Amino acid sequence: MDLISIRDLDKAEVEKILDSADAIHSGKKKPDHKGKIIVTLFFEASTRTKLSFQCAAERNGMQVVDFLPDVSSLKKGESFVDTIKVVEGYGDVLAIRHPVEGSVRLAADVSKKPVLNGGDGANQHPTQTLIDLFSIRKTKGRIKGLNVSLVGDLKHARTMRSLVYGLSMFGANVTLISPKGLEMPARDVEEIKKKFGSSIKVKQELDFSDADVLYVCRIQEERFADPLEAKRVSEQFRIKKDNLKGAKEDIVILHPLPKINEIESSIDDLPQAKYFEQAHYGVPVRQAVIDWALSK
Ligand code: CP
Repeated sequence: MDLISIRDLDKAEVEKILDSADAIHSGKKKPDHKGKIIVTLFFEASTRTKLSFQCAAERNGMQVVDFLPDVSSLKKGESFVDTIKVVEGYGDVLAIRHPVEGSVRLAADVSKKPVLNGGDGANQHPTQTLIDLFSIRKTKGRIKGLNVSLVGDLKHARTMRSLVYGLSMFGANVTLISPKGLEMPARDVEEIKKKFGSSIKVKQELDFSDADVLYVCRIQEERFADPLEAKRVSEQFRIKKDNLKGAKEDIVILHPLPKINEIESSIDDLPQAKYFEQAHYGVPVRQAVIDWALSK
C-alpha cells in the first residue's frame, strides 16, 4: 500500500495508524519485518524524515539501504523512472523525498512495491501529518474541537498543506496565519471546507489568544525566486515570547523542524514548546506506517 497524500487515508485508517504508533511507543506492540528491506531515496535534504524512516525500519527488524543521488547513475543521465523501476526490485518498501510535486506519485505508479512519500516539493508530507496528529493527541488528549493556529509560509510548506486536511478530518478549528503573499492556496482551503464542513479562518496578525495548539513552520527560502525577499519576510514574521502574552497557559507549541529564526530561541525552554518531543514521535509513527504499508 502506498502513502503519497494524506488524502489517501480515511479517518478510520488514520486512527488505526495512530493507535498502532501509540502501542509501539508504549512498548505494547513490536512490528517484526525481519528479512525485509527499506530503500530510502532522498533527492532533497532531510534530517528527521530520512533518519526516522531508517530508525523505524531498523526497530521493525528490517535492513536499510540508502540511495545517494549524487553518486548514483542519475549523474550519467539515467531517468528518475528507470531508477525507481530498478530499485523497486531491490527493496520491499521505498521511502522517497523529491523537490518536484507529483514525482513521488509517479514513483508509486511505476513501482510494484509500496512507496511512502517523505515530501514532494510544496505538495504533501503525509507521514509528518501523522506525526503532528499523534503529537496533538499525546499532548492535548484529543484533536476534535481544538483551536489550532497554523503560522508561517503557508504557500510553500507541504507540512501545512497536509496538516490542514488532517486537522479538518478530525474536527479541529483551524486558523491560518501567514504573511501577505504567503497564504495557503484558496483552492486547497475551499476543497477542505467543502469536504469536512470545517471551520478555517484566515488572518495575518500574530495573535494566538484563542489557540490550544500553535503550529509554526519556517519561511521556505529554497522555494523563493528571490532569497532576499525570503529573508525580509522571515525577519518580519518571527514569534517572540511577547507574542505569547495573552495565550492560554496550556497552549502547545509544535513545529515540524528544522526551525531557523521564526521562533525566538528562548521559547525552546518553555514547557509549552513540544517540538523536539514531536520530532522523536517520528520513529514510532513511521514504524506504524511501514507496518501498515507492508501488512496491506
Ligand atoms: N520535518 C521534516 O520533514 O524535517 P526534515 O526536512 O529534516 O526531514
